[in-house]
Amino acid sequence: MAINPTAQVRLERDGDVAVIWIDNPPINAGSAAVRTGLLHAINEVAHDERIVAAVLIGAGTTFIAGSDIREFGQPLAEPQLPTVIAALEACPKPFVAALHGAALGGGFELALGCDARIAATGTVVGLPEVTLGIIPGAGGTQRLPRLVGVPRAIAMVCSGERLKSAAALAASLVDLVATGDLRSAAVVHARSLAGRKQRVRELSVPATEPQAVADAATAALKAGKNRPAVVAAIESIKASALLDFDTALADERAVFQQLRSSREATALRHQFFAERDSAKHPQLAGVAPRAMQTIAVIGAGTMGSGIVIAALDAGYDVLLLEQDGEALDRGGARIHDHYAGRVRAGKMAPEAVQSRQDRMRTSLQWDDLAEADLVIEAVFEDIEVKRQVFARIDGLARPGAVLASNTSYLDLDAIAAATSRPQDVIGLHFFSPAHVMRLIEVVRGQPTESDVLATGLAVAKKLGKLPLLTGNAFGFVGNRLYAAYRRQCEFLVEEGAWPEQVDAALQRFGFAMGPFAVADLSGLDIAWRMRQAQVGTRDPAARYVHIADRLCEAGRLGRKTGAGYYRYTESGQPMVDETVHVLIERARADKGIAPRAIPDEEIVRRALLALANEAALLLAEGVAAHATDVDVALVNGYGFPRWEGGVVFWARERGEAALRADFAWLAEISGPGSKAGDPGALLALPS
Ligand code: NAI
Repeated sequence: MAINPTAQVRLERDGDVAVIWIDNPPINAGSAAVRTGLLHAINEVAHDERIVAAVLIGAGTTFIAGSDIREFGQPLAEPQLPTVIAALEACPKPFVAALHGAALGGGFELALGCDARIAATGTVVGLPEVTLGIIPGAGGTQRLPRLVGVPRAIAMVCSGERLKSAAALAASLVDLVATGDLRSAAVVHARSLAGRKQRVRELSVPATEPQAVADAATAALKAGKNRPAVVAAIESIKASALLDFDTALADERAVFQQLRSSREATALRHQFFAERDSAKHPQLAGVAPRAMQTIAVIGAGTMGSGIVIAALDAGYDVLLLEQDGEALDRGGARIHDHYAGRVRAGKMAPEAVQSRQDRMRTSLQWDDLAEADLVIEAVFEDIEVKRQVFARIDGLARPGAVLASNTSYLDLDAIAAATSRPQDVIGLHFFSPAHVMRLIEVVRGQPTESDVLATGLAVAKKLGKLPLLTGNAFGFVGNRLYAAYRRQCEFLVEEGAWPEQVDAALQRFGFAMGPFAVADLSGLDIAWRMRQAQVGTRDPAARYVHIADRLCEAGRLGRKTGAGYYRYTESGQPMVDETVHVLIERARADKGIAPRAIPDEEIVRRALLALANEAALLLAEGVAAHATDVDVALVNGYGFPRWEGGVVFWARERGEAALRADFAWLAEISGPGSKAGDPGALLALPS
């Protein structure tokens, strides 16, 4: 007979073993109802004399894949997870956690509270709480080191590492990997434990050299940028070897409670939900993507090679086409070198590389395009070149193939109009390096069919990317935002800040790099060429900073020429360059600008306001689908610090009235050509 303590948890008997099913679709997230159900079920196991042992197992495709993250932002409902785990441990009968799918966060902590863990092949386990600005708060930092030792626990928790079954077995995180039916294997294992408890809390923490602990902590702090959750996790894990279990457990809980309401955790949760919401497109519900197996990439440059790697890694067959034999050889060599490096670093088996090579062909003959289900163009950023390439593709690709452009700024509809099938054309804007960066803008042209868009989103997902649906507008979402930010930084330099001051202030705020270091890295000539192309259409009254043009005219195109906003040493170290200061002073003098000292706070404030203001304009124009898409783009494509949530998160904290005044101030200080956005759109919460 099945007893139904709550709808989310049910208990059935398999002879003398209780099987407790956790059933809270879609991911069996831990929630108040699940915890209540578990407590009832544990109680039932404790009191039913016919039961000698129990199994905890997830219904559907997974164990508890994580906690309900919304709960972390509110007072936690009783019973809380530590109470459930305490009940598991207090029960005299052994519990076996049967894991499949994912057992993460609170789910894995629950498993650590059991007497044994058995995992199906392909299961992932881990404690990723630190990535949400908190620490495991239900004993994870105390039980994990008892199984793997303090140094390994620090590395795992601080990076949020997820281990697959085989690695989890090797690390003693699970006791068995089940190849057959998980439930049956778990029941057999539970029965074999009858009469024995083997609580993880009773194990002693393996002795380790203090140096090994110190090394692990140093490495974790560096990788985790000294963020508060990383610091707290290290302290809590270290305490497992120093304090008695219950004291350390209570301390862990107190830190968890305090961190979960911190600004950083709130910002990280915001980003988590922003990423989740960016994938919601009700208008595409039920639209089936087209079938994709072969991808042709045109252009073997920086982006083309990266896209090929991403596509090979995702299992596609890939055809790389060029017009220029030498460029094709260079691209092929870049791809080959990438994989050789992975093998050397022990990150990839030679056979895995071989399988990729077997799926890739390079050619100067484009007739093979007929085999492609998807064509991704990554040639020079020039509208005429792109139109010619698309006309040629149109003559060769099979009917129904999806034709994509990796353009950064150009008008997708103008590109599509060079074909006889504009409905099949989309933008797939990858970020550099294309095989590393998670963000992809999937651009909808005016005539793009829904199933072509759905295909773009599906391919991006299969590539392991984070797709963002955008409208077709100059620079789409990301580059449009970034252009406004960079322009504001140039204003700041013109008014009196040095590029290195602006870079340092924004890096201190948390950006991976400052805007001028980024400009040097990508090359100043790209934006220069674009500005030249816009000469005819630019508002002559708009404020225009000439500094970048003058750097380019002086041959300072960035790192690749050894000089840009900075001078670069032979080892690539950026150095402040007096010549640049002189050039900037001259540019200021030409406009009659008397430089003033600009405080760092003003730099950060204006840079963020420029982003927020542009976001408001983008939303008003309907280029971005959701306000929080802006934050997804900034964090995943532009090095905006994840722990700051994004600029919409920041704007929402400021509130509408303050923002309205700020936007007006920014427009005024930025001079002619600047427009204040309406902050209302940024503040609207998703419906
Ligand atoms: P790149 O200059 O490294 O490579 C372009 C390649 O296209 C060259 O190998 C060239 O031989 C080839 N090519 C040019 N015309 C061709 C034609 N008619 N037929 C076949 N191949 C042709 O350029 P990169 O940086 O890879 O950029 C490619 C595209 O990706 C551009 O649209 C760019 O805006 C976009 N993009 C670039 C990013 C970057 O950071 N480099 C980031 C995101 C997008």
